[in-house]
Parts: sequence; structure tokens; C-alpha cells
Amino acid sequence: MSKRLLADFLVDGIGRLYTCHQPGDGEGPRRGEGLREVGLVDNGAVAAYQGEIIAVGNSDAVRRAIRVLPGAESIDAEGRAVVPGFVDAHTHAVFGKARPDEFGRRLVGESYQSIAESGGGIRASVRDFRQRSEKELLGLTRSRLKECLKSGSTTVEVKSGYGLNLESELKALRVIRALQSEPSLPRLVATCLAAHEFPDEYRERREEYVDLVCESILPEVASQKLAERVDVFCEPGVFSQDQARRVLARGQALGLSACIHADELEGGGGSALAVELGAASADHLGAISEAGIRALAGSSTVGVLLPGTIFSLGLDEFAPARAMIEAGVALAVASDFNPGSNYCSSIPLTLSIACTRMRLHPHEALVMATLNAAWSLGRAAQVGSLDVSKRCDLVVLGADSLDEMVQHMGGKVVDRVVLNGRSVS
Ligand code: NIG
Ligand code: FE
Repeated sequence: MSKRLLADFLVDGIGRLYTCHQPGDGEGPRRGEGLREVGLVDNGAVAAYQGEIIAVGNSDAVRRAIRVLPGAESIDAEGRAVVPGFVDAHTHAVFGKARPDEFGRRLVGESYQSIAESGGGIRASVRDFRQRSEKELLGLTRSRLKECLKSGSTTVEVKSGYGLNLESELKALRVIRALQSEPSLPRLVATCLAAHEFPDEYRERREEYVDLVCESILPEVASQKLAERVDVFCEPGVFSQDQARRVLARGQALGLSACIHADELEGGGGSALAVELGAASADHLGAISEAGIRALAGSSTVGVLLPGTIFSLGLDEFAPARAMIEAGVALAVASDFNPGSNYCSSIPLTLSIACTRMRLHPHEALVMATLNAAWSLGRAAQVGSLDVSKRCDLVVLGADSLDEMVQHMGGKVVDRVVLNGRSVS
């Protein structure tokens, strides 16, 4: 008899197991028809040892391949469906309080942009953020990330961007770093978004703020290794394409990977810039042009769609996901969880919105929120699919199938979350 692998974790009795299997590392993110390949296995099981997947597939085959150690955690999914842990590739989870007042104002006619111009929006969150202590922000962010985990997000990207000066941007990034070492929170990927908006004190001297970001904030962030990515909000009225280019190129020169809030509301040429700079991702894309779609399709930049934001803003123009899929753009979907434009961290709800409003098949949406999202964060070798040698991060759904999860909007669609081969909620 061949030697069996030792397992200290097993989930068995899975009715439908969506592995999102990716055979080789060299493949890159899924595109086109490939977005529907969810690697479905009936009667599945997943086994792990010390947080790493050692066997996955049909239950009988997994059982034959492993020996379950005494004291191992063993879960019976009782026929429920299992998917990889969600990878939320775009959040602004470090903030003080939300802005529900603006939510109401928008619903009766004001726009996100007009509220921002009059001193609200991101700048209101900056004033609130600056006067809070690091300790308080740590507690607030920790409880939000626990919510993310409860709804199935086992990897979460988190941006700074409500500090907008050296001291407060570092404060935000230190909060993320402190939470990165807490085992009962999702895996975190830190991004410096010092170029999120022009703060009150730089409204009349915008180039000087770009100088501050490029010559002071980003170098300090890089030297303290507080972030691995740099982001910028490229949009008319906020950072122009030239200003965004300066910020991202500076970040890249300092060793950070670039991503960009691109073509969110009116379109500022952010997608083209992302491709020009070889950015890892171009996010939002609600107002992307035909040329922008063509540029992304011919590149390795992942388009990260954030339909929850369009929904929460009460707008109708969702990103043209079907046209982008047809053109061959590598797409992911994420929450954009933040205190203003989208105060929602639930990936299951985001996927319901993505499917209904952008006409995605649930299988496409799943691959976009797992494997492709992991690619956009440079984490595809570790997470994003249930494959041998990846981390054992998975969600036992409160549903028999992925389709049921997507259909059951706002329902209790997550039964259990496993992070690193341990149940965490
Ligand atoms: O992605 N667009 C810029 N940033 C966020 C909004 C942040 C906020 O409203 O506080 C976004 O939508
Ligand atoms: Fe955002």
C-alpha cells in the first residue's frame, strides 16, 4: 500500500465542490470562456496539513490518499457546496466612521462628485480619520475585518487613503501591518493610496501635494515596507492622468506594484495608463471607453470590477463586463468596501449584484472573486483556488450550489469559513 499523507484537517460530505482548479502556475488569470471553469467535483473532500492543501477532489479518492491524525479537525459539510475563500482585491477598510448622511443626500438627488466638491466625501473621512488614535482605528478595523471573514473573504486587500499626510498615511498602514499578524483575521495585502484625494490644505496647490506623495510619503512607506502596492484615484476633478502617472511611476521605482482607480465615474484615461505602466490592476471601469477595453484586453493588467459601488451610489451604468469578457480582458470582482460610496464588505452580496446587473454567470463571478482576484494581487501561487500546495482557505456555503448562494440575496449563505486549515467562523 502506498504511503498515505497525514492530514490534520478534513472537510468531507461536500455536495458540490468548486475548486476553481488551475493546473499550472504559468497560466495567468482566466479570460473569455475560461472564466466559467470552476473545476466542479461532485461528492468532494478537501484535506490539509499545517494549513496547506494535501488532497482535494472526489471524497473516496481523498480518503484513500490520506491518514487523518488523531485530534484533526473533521467537518461534515452535509451535502453543502464549498468554494475557495473569497479574495477581496479592493477595500478601504481602515477608516473612522461611515458617512450615512451622504448616502441619504445622494438618494434624493445630489451626486457623489458634487458632495465631494463641497468638502464632503473622502475629505470628510480624512478630517475624521486624522483625529482618531491608532489604537482606536486598530479596534475599528479589526472588527470590520472579522465581518469580512464571516462573509467568506479569507484574503483582503486594504488601502490607506484617509490620512493624506505623512503622519496619518503611516498611521493607516501601521494599523494594517499590526492586523496582518493576527491569525483570526483574513490574510491582508497593504496598498498605499496617499493619492486618494487632495486634502483640504492642498486644494489650491495640487502639484505640491503630488510632490509630497512622490518625495515624502511613498519613499517613507517603501523604506518601512508598510505597503506592497501603490494606488491613485485617477478621475476628472481628482488626480489627472499626468499626476496619476507620476505617483504610480514613483511607487514602481520604489519597488511597489501599481494599481489604479480607473475610469470610475466619468473616465479619466486610467485604463490606458494602467496598461502603459504595466499595472497589476485597473479598478472600477464603470466609464471605460472602447479603446480602454482594447488596451486592457491586450495586456496582463487585471480589470477589477466593483459593482457594489455603482449599486450603492444608485447609478445605472455598471461596467460593461460582457463586452470586456468578449474582448478577452482578465477580470476580477471585489467589494470596494469603504465609508462612503460603498459601505458593504460582503462578497456574496457583491456577486449577486455582479450577476444580476452585469449579466455574469455565477461561475464567471466566482472565478473573478477567487482565482483572478488572487492574480490581481500577486497571490495566485498561494490562494484563489483549492489546489494541492495552496493554503487551505475555503467557505462551506449555506447553500447546495453556488447558483443558490448568488440567488439567495442577503440570506445566510455562508455556513462556515476555514482559514489556513482551521474553522474560524
Ligand atoms: O473606490 N473612488 C475613490 N475611492 C472610493 C470611495 C471612497 C469614499 O467614498 O470614501 C471608491 O469608490
Ligand atoms: Fe476604491
